[in-house]
Amino acid sequence: MSTTRETAFTITPKTDAISAAERAALLANPGFGRVFSDHMAVVTYTEGKGWHTPEIMPRQPLMLDPAASVLHYAQEIFEGMKAYRAPNGDALLFRPEANARRFRKSAERMAMAQLPEELFLDAVNQLVKLDAGWIPDPEVGTLYLRPFMIATETALGVKPSAEYKFIVIACAAGDYFSKDAGPVTVWVEERTVRASRGGTGEAKCGGNYAASLTAQQEAKANGCHQVLFLDANERKWIEEMGGMNVMAVMEDGTLKTPPLGGTILPGITRDSLLTLARDKGMTVKEEPYAIEQLYADAASGRLRELFACGTAAVVTPIGTLKSAEGDHLISGQTGEVTASLRKTLCDIQFGRAEDPHGWMHRVG
Ligand code: PLP
Ligand code: COI
Repeated sequence: MSTTRETAFTITPKTDAISAAERAALLANPGFGRVFSDHMAVVTYTEGKGWHTPEIMPRQPLMLDPAASVLHYAQEIFEGMKAYRAPNGDALLFRPEANARRFRKSAERMAMAQLPEELFLDAVNQLVKLDAGWIPDPEVGTLYLRPFMIATETALGVKPSAEYKFIVIACAAGDYFSKDAGPVTVWVEERTVRASRGGTGEAKCGGNYAASLTAQQEAKANGCHQVLFLDANERKWIEEMGGMNVMAVMEDGTLKTPPLGGTILPGITRDSLLTLARDKGMTVKEEPYAIEQLYADAASGRLRELFACGTAAVVTPIGTLKSAEGDHLISGQTGEVTASLRKTLCDIQFGRAEDPHGWMHRVG
């Protein structure tokens, strides 16, 4: 467990914070992405000057010129990570340096300013330290952190912006999918694609999510919770979901997931689960999986379990895949391996178990 070095953030605390009782009521059932903490971290970038003016301030609307480049050409990237409440009351972060690294890579792909990883970690650490009271109880959830960067130069020329803001906000997060839902139903999208080779699929940029929304709408219209995207070239291979990676548990106990190849977000949960599965002695395969083969394996029983994984979704079992042609039942209940991997991961994240890989960072 390590802690992060502090830089000189100017801290302006909120003066009219809500009462502890009001906050407790909000934290009892926060849902996802609606109950925000009191503060935000902001760091500014100006070409020629670099990153400057690191601040923590009361959460407030942004002031942007209507010609700010982000509003026109979508130079925007973000991260998703969580702060967990340990049994001894400590606030813990899970592999934050992996988020900082991925953020830098996303910035590179979108021709944005490179934020030093130390500064990313400092901003997150200091925001969580100040807003630790917004971390829900472990039975309820976590504090979801949303670091993001936007292009703020007032310029309509199509070129990389010369000015950026790096901002971190936080919201209390319960389950991403409703607890009563059981295994989720997923729409297999055969019409639109999320990413293509040479595109921005492996960057965490807002545009990827905008591109996924018509499929998400279609999923909802068909009674599904999420979308599974196929590859852009052949519409044959499973890739990932709208906001999470996908993994399959085979009859022989192998854990199988599509390989990273530029079109899939390299999920930190994905990487962690592959490591934990290897720790458990499981065979792990990162290899292409054709959707038709997956359907056949579900019917024959070769495919035992299918689940989604990501920061927001944690590990969520997939019960049924639906497509325009019909339904394919995987399983009506949470599989054994899915449940075991979820428990092992969550026990580490909430500080209830040994952390053999040194993934947890204490905030402070
Ligand atoms: N894939 C997409 C498209 C995502 O939005 C996410 C969520 O961040 C993931 C995968 C999982 O990534 P991680 O485990 O790092 O949260
Ligand atoms: C996350 O899991 O952090 C995501 O970014 C997925 C989604 C909420 C956008």
